[in-house]
Amino acid sequence: MNDWLSMLLLVLLAVAIIALGWWLLIATEGVYLGRRVVVWLYDLFADRYDRVKNYYREYEHMYLAQPVMERIAPHRSPLVLDVATGTGRLPLALLRHAHFQGRVIGLDLSRRMLRQAARNLYIFDDRVTFIWGSAENLPFPNDTFDVVTCLEALEFMVRPQIVLGELARVLRPGGLLLVSQRINTRLMPGKVWSSGQILELLAECGIQDAQAQIWQVDYRKVWGYKAGSSPVTGGRPLAEVLRCPRCRAQILEQREQTWLCGNCGARVYTGADGVIEMYPLER
Ligand SMILES: C[S@@+](CC[C@H](N)C(=O)[O-])C[C@H]1O[C@@H](n2cnc3c(N)ncnc32)[C@H](O)[C@@H]1O
Repeated sequence: MNDWLSMLLLVLLAVAIIALGWWLLIATEGVYLGRRVVVWLYDLFADRYDRVKNYYREYEHMYLAQPVMERIAPHRSPLVLDVATGTGRLPLALLRHAHFQGRVIGLDLSRRMLRQAARNLYIFDDRVTFIWGSAENLPFPNDTFDVVTCLEALEFMVRPQIVLGELARVLRPGGLLLVSQRINTRLMPGKVWSSGQILELLAECGIQDAQAQIWQVDYRKVWGYKAGSSPVTGGRPLAEVLRCPRCRAQILEQREQTWLCGNCGARVYTGADGVIEMYPLER
């Protein structure tokens, strides 16, 4: 009898460990274990990400690119920043839109997701730039972008409130912000905001007229504009919008495949796939 009881306890313990591992690594994508684990998991699954997500081109057009274009009309050539771009979902939807004439910068902390993004968008490589960097310390000056987006990512960030502040900081007054908010909260206690909370946090960051819409199954899209108004940034050259990730001076000079900081001498390299590698200087 004692043997049976021990066996049962062992089986229960094994099941509990497997369930905990599944919850920590799969269901919540490592967010309770810290940023390194989140990024390690995305690096690990980068090659399979697009196959698993299987986004439909028509839906991406209808529910992402077209609503962005309608909200910024009549402008067609905005400078867009997509934070936590992953494999380049939003840049791809926008650049495939027949009327979009702007440029997109996609930033992510997973180098392998960015390698896949660069592959997915190689035909648009004159209008898209990918940056390896952290959403908590965006390497851009204040009030830079016409549109800032961050999709399916805030709930996987260790410090989402700081990220929200960064998204608002780099958006120009009058610019459009689009973030997504997870609404299936059962599996991620303490990691998702209620509608009231996100609207309040956005207001604190100076985002006004925020509106939420149900999107996909587990998300809301939340739209808003930064208070004030300013001229459209449009297609400013990259050198004008990059900031040194180490000293934050805004004097990065391009020398072939390298960006050199005129203030602290830091060197930012560009990978063979064209991704600008800022993150090594932030660590
Ligand atoms: C679920 S994916 C979403 C990707 C893309 N936005 C989409 O909708 O397909 C989440 C992304 O957030 C990125 N990420 C997580 N924490 C980050 C951080 N602190 N800074 C930048 N990217 C981060 C991950 O590397 C991953 O690519």
